[in-house]
Amino acid sequence: MENVFMESSANIIAIDGPAASGKSTIGKLLAEQLGYLYFDTGVMYRAVTCVALQRGVSVEDQDAVTDLARQVQIDVQHSSKIGRDGYEVFVDGINVTEEIRWPDVDAHVSVVSAYPGVRQALSLQQRRVGLRGRIVMVGRDIGTVILPEADLKIFLDASIEERAGRRFLEVRQRGDPSSMQEILDSMIERDRIDSTRDIAPLKPAEDAIIVNTAGLSIEQVLDLLQGFAVQS
Ligand code: CDP
Repeated sequence: MENVFMESSANIIAIDGPAASGKSTIGKLLAEQLGYLYFDTGVMYRAVTCVALQRGVSVEDQDAVTDLARQVQIDVQHSSKIGRDGYEVFVDGINVTEEIRWPDVDAHVSVVSAYPGVRQALSLQQRRVGLRGRIVMVGRDIGTVILPEADLKIFLDASIEERAGRRFLEVRQRGDPSSMQEILDSMIERDRIDSTRDIAPLKPAEDAIIVNTAGLSIEQVLDLLQGFAVQS
């Protein structure tokens, strides 16, 4: 049977926001409803960080990490069999889908993603894919830097306590023993680095619609965004 997708007048949709604001869950569902490609850019920064840690490259060594970001081949393949995201992530052919969610990656990814050379290497690929259209792209700088021409820009937000609570449930389901306090502390630090870095800091684009997801269910947020996509 042929899929019937909801009509959207927005060809390029950018969703940005801080850690665990719901971007990935909502972005993926919205893309499914519209029949669009879903692209989670955080995966690329996580993949570079993960491989640096695995290969013993110091994340403090900007030049070495930048070289790594330029050299590695990151592939994201859609897969129904694994994880919450519906895709598998490969770096140079090695599956890192589970590893990119480890607390060690959480703790270092913001340092890595603040390096200008790393951002340059990954941004080019993201923009190229985004310009093909019929896409929901999710990250920190999609509406501001990667695709400023996006037809619809959403900035999802929620309080740090709410976001850390969501992430705590998520990591517990994966069997990770991190405590709520550890997750909260790591998230506060990641948000701080992401929003104060010189290049492409986390912030809403001037023409973004800011959606505070506090107290809203996934369905309610999705409904709101569908409404914006149809109207834009
Ligand atoms: O899922 P969560 O919101 O916790 O994080 P993510 O979207 O997977 O992003 C992980 C990290 O990658 C962020 O904390 C940023 O440091 C970085 N990132 C970025 O700098 N720019 C993007 N477009 C996406 C992610």
